[in-house]
Amino acid sequence: MHIYFHEKTKTFHLQNDTISYIMTVLPNGHMGQLYYGKRIHDREDFGYLLETAMRSHSAYIADDNTNYSLEHLRQEYPSYGSSDFRQGAIEVLQENGSRISDFVYEGYETCGGKPVLPGLPATYTEDDSEAETLRIFLKDPINGLELTLLYTIFNEGGVIARSACIKNTGEQNVHLLKALSVCLDLPDANYEMIQFSGSWARERYPEYRRLHTGIQSVGSMRGHSSHQQNPFIVLKRPETTEFMGEAMGLSLVYSGNFLAQVDVDTYNTTRVTMGIHPEWFDWKLEPGESFQTPEAVIVFSKDGLNGMSNTFHKLYRTRLARGVWRDRTRPILINNWEATYFDFNEEKLVKIASKAKECGVELFVLDDGWFGARRSDYAGLGDWVPAHELLPNGIKGLSEKIEALGMKFGLWIEPEMINPDSDLYRAHPEWILSVPERRASLSRHQWVLDFSRKDVVDHIHGMIAKILRESKISYIKWDMNRSITECYSKALPADRQGEVFHRYILGVYDLYERLTSEFPEILFESCAGGGARFDPGMLYYAPQAWTSDDTDAVERMKIQYGTSYCYPVSSMGSHVSAVPNHQVDRLTPLKTRADVAYFGTFGYELDLNKLSAEEQEEVKVYTQFMKDHRELIQHGTFYRLQSPFTCNEPAWMVVSPDKKEALVAYFRILSKVNEEFKRLRLAGLDPELCYSVDGKAVRYGDELMNAGLVTSNSTSGVTFPECEPAGDFKSELFYLKACE
Ligand code: DGJ
Repeated sequence: MHIYFHEKTKTFHLQNDTISYIMTVLPNGHMGQLYYGKRIHDREDFGYLLETAMRSHSAYIADDNTNYSLEHLRQEYPSYGSSDFRQGAIEVLQENGSRISDFVYEGYETCGGKPVLPGLPATYTEDDSEAETLRIFLKDPINGLELTLLYTIFNEGGVIARSACIKNTGEQNVHLLKALSVCLDLPDANYEMIQFSGSWARERYPEYRRLHTGIQSVGSMRGHSSHQQNPFIVLKRPETTEFMGEAMGLSLVYSGNFLAQVDVDTYNTTRVTMGIHPEWFDWKLEPGESFQTPEAVIVFSKDGLNGMSNTFHKLYRTRLARGVWRDRTRPILINNWEATYFDFNEEKLVKIASKAKECGVELFVLDDGWFGARRSDYAGLGDWVPAHELLPNGIKGLSEKIEALGMKFGLWIEPEMINPDSDLYRAHPEWILSVPERRASLSRHQWVLDFSRKDVVDHIHGMIAKILRESKISYIKWDMNRSITECYSKALPADRQGEVFHRYILGVYDLYERLTSEFPEILFESCAGGGARFDPGMLYYAPQAWTSDDTDAVERMKIQYGTSYCYPVSSMGSHVSAVPNHQVDRLTPLKTRADVAYFGTFGYELDLNKLSAEEQEEVKVYTQFMKDHRELIQHGTFYRLQSPFTCNEPAWMVVSPDKKEALVAYFRILSKVNEEFKRLRLAGLDPELCYSVDGKAVRYGDELMNAGLVTSNSTSGVTFPECEPAGDFKSELFYLKACE
């Protein structure tokens, strides 16, 4: 890994074994983009990559050069209005009403490692040798704004982390109306874009579209990253597959409103931008103040979509997630939500926990309903005091009882919310986000607390920290069950209301930071009505996230498969739940439910007492299986093999870092009669190693990856006999171990 700077041509080249990222100072002092892709040789002058042309109706930025229009130049951090007619990365409203800016190169600095972004989640290094950072300094001579562009290139993989910092060193107040995190100006438009869209209970379904002239974008204006869209897009070549070809992923380390936009102009160049959604964003920057954008992580892969995902997984698992739980194997948990909903008392909970303990489960999680008047979702949010009619000795008493069983205890909270029917609202009606004298829309009978206010965050912190200090709590599930509406803070002046969405999420990060620092041993799982805040920002504080409220095994194949394009298996909360399934009413075998849930953090979401004795024995086997394989699953390399979106037999696998072990999951959604022969080609194995497949057959890695695993009934292969008799929603796991 190295950052070259060629003084004569003012060219920067960030290079590692996989990629090159090259840019230069343009003749007008702006930063121009030259190349991002597979590693290429360094040279002093890449000027030939700067194409200019004199085109009719273009405006030119240099008076004496009619060829020189920003409209046709590829740039690092462009702005609209001075000969570039595309949408830019920055827009600054100045005191005279002008929005024109002109950031001119002043100098640069490099350092080993990666600086922390104050108040924001970001990838990090543990040692300066893991990455190198370049800061490029630019200044607008008229308004005095300083712009610093940050680029970190990691040693490993095709990763660049980018962000921008704007400092007002002038004398006037300005308003940032747009300050995105990244801009990539690509020289052609021969791409397909993949976005990850959905809704509650069907999050992150990959959707493909061929790029067309004009703007195509996804984003969220819900105050959180959302069920609907994810702050992650991929541009891939049309011919790119899971294992071959170029793919570029852009991921925003942020949990609030975002925009990911691809703009193809009529000269077939592609501008990709990503950052805080500019809609409703208006950040007042007074002299001396700075604004730091969130970080965007871009990954280039020449090894297809799996190659790209592998890079994101490793980076996010090891250099975004933090704390003691980053590398520790995660506890197998049982959560009472689908077992009881709001209908529980201490006796019932202890009974559920005791049976789970008997089945080998390690952590009992008490979900919603334990506090204030929260006997339904109409009341109690905001009153983080145990309901003594349910829990006579409070959370402290219950947690001690659970620990006495030999299990750990975990607790659900939803700290950002408030019910109208709560003591907190009666005491502080001004603490909700709402516009004075206008109605505030309810959602799930609740409002959103104004986390842009420090006094609100302080108060909630006080209540939650008290419980965590008093009780034996090993795990927290932090939920967030509605989007933000009527976004307005009564604590901010009129000209700062455009800051509320971002200040809100900074407040959330602040509370996370305080709690995770004071309670480093607690494992945090983020959640937002299932997977509405499954984003890299959350992963920085909570190494796992509840993937979706849909716990049906067949639905989960899709949700977990889609989620895996960016996020590691170690981050995906996945549980075995009851049948008929509560969301889709489907009956699936217990084995299939377990086989899907293994590829995540694994747990249960039902009352095991309600299972037959035989099923309880099965549960013991599944729990033990996860204990035996969770190291491999959590730290292994995950490969998507066959998609549940396009095929009846979805499959995926994980391979241990030393390639000596692997676990393959193969599902068959619908049973068919008189089927064709089937083979499953594996991935990521050592071609030279011999593997025993479930102790039943021995195959070389190259056989398994090229000839494939024979999964149809065949006398010569490792077959799928466990699926007999035929039936829907079946699954099989194959465990591969390298032979001595
Ligand atoms: C939504 C979560 O996703 C569920 O798992 C559960 O915790 C409920 N909220 C509780 O209200």
